[in-house]
Amino acid sequence: MSMRRKCLAFATGVCLFSGGASAQSIVDHFNVGRVATADEIAKYFAIPPSGAGLPAGSGTAKAGAAIFADTCAACHGDKLQGNPAKGIGGDRLIGGQGTLASKTPVKTVESYWPYATTLFDYIKRAMPFNAPGSLKDDEVYALVAYILSEARIIKPTEIMDAKSLPKVQMPNRDGFIPDPRPELQLYR
Ligand code: HEC
Repeated sequence: MSMRRKCLAFATGVCLFSGGASAQSIVDHFNVGRVATADEIAKYFAIPPSGAGLPAGSGTAKAGAAIFADTCAACHGDKLQGNPAKGIGGDRLIGGQGTLASKTPVKTVESYWPYATTLFDYIKRAMPFNAPGSLKDDEVYALVAYILSEARIIKPTEIMDAKSLPKVQMPNRDGFIPDPRPELQLYR
């Protein structure tokens, strides 16, 4: 590798792993693009099963019930039973425990999902279906608390936040066969 290529590679590394000033110097150097804004970068998040990176904020099932009625029930049903009738396709979210090995498995958050933290990640990223990314973190925590409480996985009074959510044990947590490939350990 020539000295020149080494320098470029080094410069790119600095851009990726340090702050805005270096990103600006890369933009200047290559004369292409612009530095992403903090708002743009905030849209790229992923909450792994451990809950690492869960934001500040908190919510209760009571608060979540009100948000759910306004924002989610039209598609997911007012009892979280889903709403196929309207053709909107909002899944059933609770129930179905013990059905997975049967001929008519009912896959829901309650019966299937192994990690409660995924619920925060998914709702924040993808719901409501018609306006993804529009919920505040407190609202997402409240919705998570409401769904888990309706599924009787947590008590109706439990507060969900970055500390309590990763401790929630989902009913199907041990229903998956572990995949030992080392590269997958990155996502744990
Ligand atoms: C306009 C209809 C609509 C609205 C409103 C809506 N959803 Fe959904 N929701 C869907 C659809 C459709 C899917 C399936 C998406 C897919 O599989 O890609 C889904 C999937 C989900 C899932 C995953 C279910 C599973 O087992 O895979 C959750 C959790 C969820 N929604 C929660 C919510 C919450 C909480 C709200 C309110 C903030 C909400 N949704 C509002 C239509 C909706």
